[in-house]
Amino acid sequence: RSLKIGLIPADGIGKEVIPAARQAIEALGSDIPKPEFIDLLAGWEVFTKTGVALPDETVDILRNECDCALFGSVSSPSRKVVGYSSPIVALRKKLDLYANIRPVVSVAPEVGQQPSVDLIVVRENTECLYVKQETQTEGEKGKEARATRVITEYASRRIGQMAFELANARPRKHLTIIHKSNVLSITDGLFRETVRAVPTLPAVAGKYDGVTIAEQLVDSAVYRLFREPEVFDVMVAPNLYGDIISDAAAALVGSLGLIPSINAGDNFVMGEPVHGSAPDIEGKGIANPLASIRSAALMLRHLGYVKGADRLDNAVDAVIRDGRILTPDLKGTSTTDEVLQAVLKQL
Ligand code: NAI
Ligand code: MG
Repeated sequence: RSLKIGLIPADGIGKEVIPAARQAIEALGSDIPKPEFIDLLAGWEVFTKTGVALPDETVDILRNECDCALFGSVSSPSRKVVGYSSPIVALRKKLDLYANIRPVVSVAPEVGQQPSVDLIVVRENTECLYVKQETQTEGEKGKEARATRVITEYASRRIGQMAFELANARPRKHLTIIHKSNVLSITDGLFRETVRAVPTLPAVAGKYDGVTIAEQLVDSAVYRLFREPEVFDVMVAPNLYGDIISDAAAALVGSLGLIPSINAGDNFVMGEPVHGSAPDIEGKGIANPLASIRSAALMLRHLGYVKGADRLDNAVDAVIRDGRILTPDLKGTSTTDEVLQAVLKQL
């Protein structure tokens, strides 16, 4: 049997870091089924050429032929472009990848990582403001823009279940619910109450008794992340808060270029570095490939290939601890390829 992996580098440094992840996977040999890679298109560049940011073919092949996928990053414009919509946001919805799981771990204080950071951000991936229902009208005082924010019991419950499951499997078994119910008492209130009620669901009765539950307003959660990151173990959040909190947590360990994620559903998993397409360093060959390699590890772990995942993680950790071959985001002077070679050597 082979492992069919869809590769969607998309734009910017995605094209530099996803090929690195591919090579790292290939180096695992018999620890995983023989990988077969299928190159797939999505992103801003393909949109500018064809008018389509997420070709149907990409979605069909992911659905029908792939066991899993790795996504790079897209260069979504900050202005409204008719016909364009972020393909990663669309893919998460189309494949029902409802959980975005983002571990942030400090492995080497000696390279400036804040010690005692060992947390997972569990971000709801299908709703909140990312339903992208925006309108603009002319009001009495000029232009008025509105965005709809959707929070459902269904989506909050399943992300809550995922978060309890992850917390229960960790030594500290501690879950913090991130919200802003003091202001948004209906939407965030529903999220908070639904997640809190997960342990009482008949299907999981008693299962999460060992998990302690805390909650924190999103703004003070960012503050506490910087002051005392050790209070957090698993953090569960609606889509936008989860996006922001995970970038903030990335700063504690030195770089966004280290933080992996998976987009997970009940039937499919897609690894994806948390960072974007980094236009400021695109094409220079200095993007940090470690987030993508760790994303490959997370993806493999999710599929049950623990040995292969451990080997990738250990190799990445060893390169960071060694500290001599790092990209400039970690104050090193090495290139993407040199870091990849260092990882391959560890493997
Ligand atoms: P960004 O994550 O691309 O970059 C933020 C900063 O981190 C930049 O200084 C960049 O050089 C640095 N950085 C990020 N990844 C790095 C890596 N692997 N190695 C070294 N340095 C790294 O965020 P930004 O600048 O806000 O967004 C740029 C573009 O990326 C936008 O078009 C945005 O829409 C898109 N984006 C796409 C995402 C995705 O595909 N899932 C996620 C976030 C942003
Ligand atoms: Mg983000």
